[in-house]
Amino acid sequence: MKIKEMLLLAAAGLGLIGCGKPGGDANTLLIGEYVSLSGNTATFGQSMRNAIDIAVDEVNGGGGLLGCQIKLIVEDDQSKPEQAVTAVLKLIQRDRVTAILGEVTSSCSIAAAPICQQNRIPMVSPSSTSPELTRKGDYIFRTCFIDPFQGAAMARFASQSLKAKTAAVFTDRKQDYSVGLAQFFKQTFQETGGKIVADEAYQSDDSEFRPQLTAIRAAKPEVIFVPGYYTQCVLIAKQARELGLTQPFLGGDGWDSDVTLKSGGKAVEPCYFSNHYSPEDPRPEVQAFVEKYRKRFGVTPDALAVTGYDGAHVLFDAIRRANSTDGAAIRDALAQTRDFKGVSSRITIDANRNASKELVVLKIEDGKFKFVESVKP
Ligand code: PHE
Repeated sequence: MKIKEMLLLAAAGLGLIGCGKPGGDANTLLIGEYVSLSGNTATFGQSMRNAIDIAVDEVNGGGGLLGCQIKLIVEDDQSKPEQAVTAVLKLIQRDRVTAILGEVTSSCSIAAAPICQQNRIPMVSPSSTSPELTRKGDYIFRTCFIDPFQGAAMARFASQSLKAKTAAVFTDRKQDYSVGLAQFFKQTFQETGGKIVADEAYQSDDSEFRPQLTAIRAAKPEVIFVPGYYTQCVLIAKQARELGLTQPFLGGDGWDSDVTLKSGGKAVEPCYFSNHYSPEDPRPEVQAFVEKYRKRFGVTPDALAVTGYDGAHVLFDAIRRANSTDGAAIRDALAQTRDFKGVSSRITIDANRNASKELVVLKIEDGKFKFVESVKP
């Protein structure tokens, strides 16, 4: 071996150049991804994975990252927090990834984040909105807004745009996301002079919601806030309509799935929910992404796709600026993300490792998600 080659190898071993991680070889940089490809929130993970595949192909096609090709290692956590923990342990211990993307849902992200933190592996969740997540430590980031903003925006929408004076809230008590969002909604709704006339709960795997819906019916709310995920939201909507409840539903980003439209049909109309993006947004970067995604996957991207794509590019950009695969260096670069040009919006990571971004309110009408308004932070 020539001296120059030996020096290069030694430098690579120290993580100074090249991909520098024992898990990869000199030409590959390993990135872990844990997502729900099956289970109650399967469409979330599928969209996120599709979009991250696009982001990786773009970077690899453009010459890669730190002179290496990115290799994604994807683990399905079946929409379960315990499995999310197992998935992240595998990615860190078996594969020795440089950084981790995921999860979509807050409960899965919150369960796995402490493992990333302990191992000093930077984690970026593109779409988990519970404020709790980034409190897990300084290696834990997100590139989306948080639930206090989302909950307050929907409460104001209910009182100002829908002129509702009374609301019912129906929470999934097993999901950190749902519990938090319900609380933030209630707080702002009451501050604006509204009254919560029914406050009911269920658990993620339930399929029988009639007893709680009957109690909600008796309270005669003007709107029903359901901060859940689409699998249960659809069932809740159907059973509510059967029981004669005709009120509009309100919700958060958890309603965003093709399944909501396809299996919800007329029962989910009308519903107003907050989300991270609208495909109707005329900005050229949005339209270019919509076209790219449709071409490859044959469907219009949902918010999981757009946030997944942005989250992946924010991470890759940080690794590029860190110019290293060292966890602490990537963490510092992520923390310094300012005005990154994402598809969903410009992304700046704040002191609490969250992103403050605009949200959109969408309405389910005529079998479609229609843009209603956007709300600035
Ligand atoms: N914000 C949700 C959560 O934290 C996940 C989600 C994001 C769902 C975007 C749909 C769209 O659990």
